[in-house]
Amino acid sequence: MLYLIGLGLSYKSDITVRGLEAIKRCSRVYLEHYTSILMAASQEELEHYYGKTVILADRELVESGSDKILSGADKEDVAFLVVGDPFGATTHTDLVLRAKRQNISVEIIHNASVMNAVGSCGLQLYQFGQTISMVFFTENWRPDSWYDKIMENRKIGLHTLVLLDIKVKEQSIENMARGKLIYEPPRYMSISQCCEQLLEIEDKRNAKAYTSDTPAVAISRLGSASQEFKAGTIQELVEYDAGEPLHSLVILGRQCHELELEYLLEFADDREKFKADVLKDQEFFKPAPWVPPAEEDSE
Ligand SMILES: C[S@@+](CC[C@H](N)C(=O)[O-])C[C@H]1O[C@@H](n2cnc3c(N)ncnc32)[C@H](O)[C@@H]1O
Repeated sequence: MLYLIGLGLSYKSDITVRGLEAIKRCSRVYLEHYTSILMAASQEELEHYYGKTVILADRELVESGSDKILSGADKEDVAFLVVGDPFGATTHTDLVLRAKRQNISVEIIHNASVMNAVGSCGLQLYQFGQTISMVFFTENWRPDSWYDKIMENRKIGLHTLVLLDIKVKEQSIENMARGKLIYEPPRYMSISQCCEQLLEIEDKRNAKAYTSDTPAVAISRLGSASQEFKAGTIQELVEYDAGEPLHSLVILGRQCHELELEYLLEFADDREKFKADVLKDQEFFKPAPWVPPAEEDSE
């Protein structure tokens, strides 16, 4: 059996009882180690907690070396651990499909994900549109296809969850070109950098999907002891130091319910200003008033 097991968001003990019981049965335990990190537990702490060796699985192993992970899983149990939920903003469907092609049974054990825990900032999950990912810009690679998704969400008044790039065990282009297996130190995008990139692309596209005055919420270290929220405009959040990773951002949509706003005010430095910013933003993409069709003369 191949088990895909969600670890939850932060602590080693966030794993479910069913997940932990499954790990105990496994002969090999892999920890997916490139789409997210477990903030409050190291590899050694997990090994001690599970009583098992934990093998770190980088992108290369999962995407190109999955046969290694699946090897023998038709006769014994193998665990593949994913921070958050195995299907929360990380698609491990490829691994599942490969397992099924080899007649290996698969069981998924779910857990909390950033995709649902984001609701703890007070915004309702029903009011979210498409999620986007913001990657680190480089000198000559500054992708902006996500801009159209924000535009679509904002047009119908929905909030946009922005997930921020992380780079764990990446090679520099120079080292890759020289075939040197030297890895860069891990990097995590900050709220401030994400907001700068948002404003750069708005400047370039100039279609007003949002502006520097658009309200947003910075979400830091969700589910950990130092979880923090900050409500402000995108421009204000450029100046915000969100501290240690992990970070996400929510760009508000026009359909911000008054209860959502009341909750967010707790996280604003200047409550009156933030409220005014949200009310002003609600005028963006506001549909024209509905006009009933003229009644047809029945005679
Ligand atoms: C590719 S997603 C993987 C999500 C994970 N599988 C899950 O279900 O939560 C990783 C990104 O989500 C966001 N994220 C994940 N956990 C977070 C947390 N605890 N607090 C804030 N943002 C988080 C960060 O932007 C991070 O770079």
